[in-house]
Amino acid sequence: MNTNNEYLTIALCKGRLASKTLELLEGIGITCDEMKDKSSRKLIFVNEEQKMRFFLAKGPDVPTYVEYGVADIGVVGKDTIMEEQRRAYEVLDLGYGKCRMCVCGPESAAELLQHHEMIRVASKYPNIAKDYFYNKKFQTVDIIKLNGSVELGPIVGLSDVIVDIVETGSTLHENGLKVLEEICPLSARMIVNQVSMKLKAERIRDLISSLKHQL
Ligand code: PRP
Repeated sequence: MNTNNEYLTIALCKGRLASKTLELLEGIGITCDEMKDKSSRKLIFVNEEQKMRFFLAKGPDVPTYVEYGVADIGVVGKDTIMEEQRRAYEVLDLGYGKCRMCVCGPESAAELLQHHEMIRVASKYPNIAKDYFYNKKFQTVDIIKLNGSVELGPIVGLSDVIVDIVETGSTLHENGLKVLEEICPLSARMIVNQVSMKLKAERIRDLISSLKHQL
């Protein structure tokens, strides 16, 4: 893709976060009508007048595009930022996409978290799970990476607990599981490439300050 410095490039994750971000950008006068067409399969969008470029990526890839500088800016969940551990400046909490990263399981598993027992933890977020259990709780655990429907773990006996996102709590409730410990609150964040922050300092600072006023 064209990495022309004239443009400010923003990587968004496909789905709800992207829609919310576009709404927010629209509020400060940055638009991209082409992106509103939900039936489109296009991945890159350009607003020539405003010299803005947007692309739609898978959530976990957003920090990668930003670290490598093909996107100057990314908007992605704090969970993904923590899990991917990419180099980028986290500059703004956008306040939407609010949820919590939690250790969950059946009520009976609560006790296993109290005595530093060797337990099995299933998660889509192995780095977050490892950091929490090893560095915060000093509990040695066996972490099993899953790719979704993680709540199955304790139900089918693959793991004792899970580390996962809880938003409304209904997935847990409908599967007979509970929040046992809260790891941290989550929300959408804006991240910026470290070189772009210097080379395009004015544009990026203006964007951040307009967004701050809008939030
Ligand atoms: C996420 C998360 C939980 C659920 C939490 O899964 O992993 O399963 O949403 O939301 P709730 O508290 O409002 O029920 P997602 O829908 O992204 O699908 P996945 O299981 O395939 O990851």
